Amino acid sequence: MDIKKYVRTIPDYPKPGIMFRDVTTLMGHPQAFRRAVDELVQPFAGLKIDKVAGIEARGFILGGACAHQLSAGFVPLRKKGKLPYKAISQSYELEYGTDELEMHEDAIVAGERVLIVDDLIATGGTAEAGIKLLRKGGAIVEAAVFLVDLPELGGCKKIEDLGVPTTCLMRFDGH
Ligand code: PRP
Ligand code: MG
Repeated sequence: MDIKKYVRTIPDYPKPGIMFRDVTTLMGHPQAFRRAVDELVQPFAGLKIDKVAGIEARGFILGGACAHQLSAGFVPLRKKGKLPYKAISQSYELEYGTDELEMHEDAIVAGERVLIVDDLIATGGTAEAGIKLLRKGGAIVEAAVFLVDLPELGGCKKIEDLGVPTTCLMRFDGH
């Protein structure tokens, strides 16, 4: 099954020149969604992953499914200001300005083995912030997994350079 064909491309969204890779069409297809989650977790079956961390917002959908499949806990890495309890934060660069990811300070027990999940990696700035946040919380970040890689933007290399093995299920050239 070629799951890549279930990702919809929308030209010139959200602005001219951008090819938006829309994963909602894949997630809406029962067999494609199951296959994607199965492929994301397959390398980690039996590796004793304690928790899966998903990055808001689209990483929650995949991360929750991956956590269930691995019988792991789920940790939300949220955008600034959403968490109700004491949180730690990590800022990251956007095209214009900066944003912050936050995690509850007790979400990770020191030494827990964590898999970080998002739908897509572009520059890698968001995932890098997630990894730094998890490490601040005491996690061992075993790996990072994504559905979609935009390799021209160099994100996977950035994450590998942090010492985190990275897997993507598909790539799109031209962004
Ligand atoms: C998108 C995507 C990744 C991130 C990748 O999320 O879902 O999380 O950008 O970009 P980067 O590798 O250059 O950091 P976005 O921040 O648009 O928000 P959403 O998931 O809440 O829709
Ligand atoms: Mg996102």
